Amino acid sequence: MGGTLLIKNIPELVTCSGFEAKAGPAMADLGIILNGAVFIEDGIINAVGTTDQLCKEKNAFTGKTIDATGKAVLPGFVDPHTHLVFAGYRPEEFARRLKGDSYLNILGRGGGILSTVQATRKASSERLVHTALERLDVFLSQGVTTVEGKSGYGLDLTTEIKQLAVMKTLNERHPVDIVPTFLGAHAVPEKYRGKTDDYVAYVADTVLPTVAEGNLAEFCDVFCEKNVFSVAQSRQLLEKARAVGLKIKLHADEMSTLGGAELAASLKAVSADHLLRASDQGIQQMARAGVVAVLLPLTAFCLREPYARARHIIDQGCPVALATDLNPGSAFTSSIPLVIALATLYMDMSTEETVTALTLNAAAAVGRAKQIGSIDVGKKADLMLLSFPSYRFLPYYTGANSVQMVIKKGYIAYHNRGKGEEDAC
Ligand code: NIG
Ligand code: FE
Repeated sequence: MGGTLLIKNIPELVTCSGFEAKAGPAMADLGIILNGAVFIEDGIINAVGTTDQLCKEKNAFTGKTIDATGKAVLPGFVDPHTHLVFAGYRPEEFARRLKGDSYLNILGRGGGILSTVQATRKASSERLVHTALERLDVFLSQGVTTVEGKSGYGLDLTTEIKQLAVMKTLNERHPVDIVPTFLGAHAVPEKYRGKTDDYVAYVADTVLPTVAEGNLAEFCDVFCEKNVFSVAQSRQLLEKARAVGLKIKLHADEMSTLGGAELAASLKAVSADHLLRASDQGIQQMARAGVVAVLLPLTAFCLREPYARARHIIDQGCPVALATDLNPGSAFTSSIPLVIALATLYMDMSTEETVTALTLNAAAAVGRAKQIGSIDVGKKADLMLLSFPSYRFLPYYTGANSVQMVIKKGYIAYHNRGKGEEDAC
């Protein structure tokens, strides 16, 4: 190991400094250091300050140095909600939705998630690894250094375990870190049609304990939705998950106001995700319980549903994170630039809140705010250089990738050499 790296002359060093989720006005505080510098040792951030300070402190340093003149530096983005391990695609479903069919009706007819389940059961682990590695490359090129990944396209013991084992392999083979989540209750498989309680019992008694014993997941998630898993069924599974040592998150109040936000608050879940139709009361309870609201604008956009009420959720004091929800159905996209565009232009989030939502708060949504999500001494050296001198270019260069270089654990993991010559001033 033993690598050192000094990054200096950073016009805007956006530290996002903090070790827990930020709520309310704190979300707009990016901890910016002008003419900043960062010193990295053994993959960990060792010193942060102005270029003058650090150059004085490290005056004997002759190792690798990056001159970041003209390039803002930010923490690596964290994507806290993805379904990146899957086989098969569903373009015909997208076409049907364009004609007015609904996401839940397609699922109810045995399509949607269930068609991806068929394809994922048939796919070899090697195939799943190969396609997910390509998806991770796309994430990395957009500045993402950690992603959460869910199972949920197996809905049986063998395939759920296969998906989680694939994530373990990805962690070994790709610089982007993956936080694995068990989502056995993503849909009711054909075999259990009309017998949801039996399926919940199967997941709780057979699949969950095997996942926990094999140390295959950090989180358990449930698709708590009308005609999928009820609040009571979701509670039953999540309580069991907690009992076997998993942390909790859930797909909540996406298509209907079911009480998912209230459930997340009462279970003190780490996050509740989607929340397009969360009630005022549910949001208040989440704020009180410190549950991170993970908002997924790409899903609302692709399903032509109303966006989650980001402004209201932030004003109520709930920490907000943003994620892509990359999956082959409701949002076949991993575009961080589009997340940023929608959050700022359509969800009334400030650029500063959007940056916090993709860094520190996203890290908190995967239980890692103490290790990643900001440029603070002692954290993993996961950061990015933009092609521009300010984070303000992120929404302004609309829908396009502003990332020029990504440093992962102190090493250059991505470098777009073709860009960055722009004279942005
Ligand atoms: O977060 N809503 C449930 N799960 C995913 C979609 C999964 C799929 O359609 O394959 C979501 O939107
Ligand atoms: Fe999802």
